[in-house]
Amino acid sequence: MSRPTEILSNDHRVVLEKLNVLDRTINNIKSQDAKKILGDLKLFIQKEMEIHFTKEEDALFPEIEKFMPREGGPIGVMLMDHEDLYKYEDNLVRGIDLFIKNESNGEAIKLIKENGTNYINLLREHIYKEDNMLFMMADMHLEEDQIKEIMRKFEELDKKQLV
Ligand SMILES: [Fe+2]
Repeated sequence: MSRPTEILSNDHRVVLEKLNVLDRTINNIKSQDAKKILGDLKLFIQKEMEIHFTKEEDALFPEIEKFMPREGGPIGVMLMDHEDLYKYEDNLVRGIDLFIKNESNGEAIKLIKENGTNYINLLREHIYKEDNMLFMMADMHLEEDQIKEIMRKFEELDKKQLV
């Protein structure tokens, strides 16, 4: 059986690739296929990213909090990162929607560039912290029954996503 941290780290590898695509598109916003690529990225952020963050917030983090308090610890920091990421994401998606309607909309380009860049930088850093610190701690301390409970919630969330 794969471990929850392994599943989430595998997600991270896919996410980092998408961030590279977003990065390239931001630097190449005038290219022919920018609209299509940004539209696809929007869907990825709203579907796959959403489920990934929910797996962390609703399944993994509550079990980690049983041996490590939220305040003053890494979970508190991770949750603050998530909050900031949601804000950047909202503005980025707003920019993408405007851009898809009209690619010469300066406001749309500004929203995409600013929030996309902030999103990329914070999310890369955030993934590094999770992969190299938080998940290592989780692997050291999570008990077998906690891992089962997390996996059960993951399956539930995956099922919900299919509906
Ligand atoms: Fe993550």
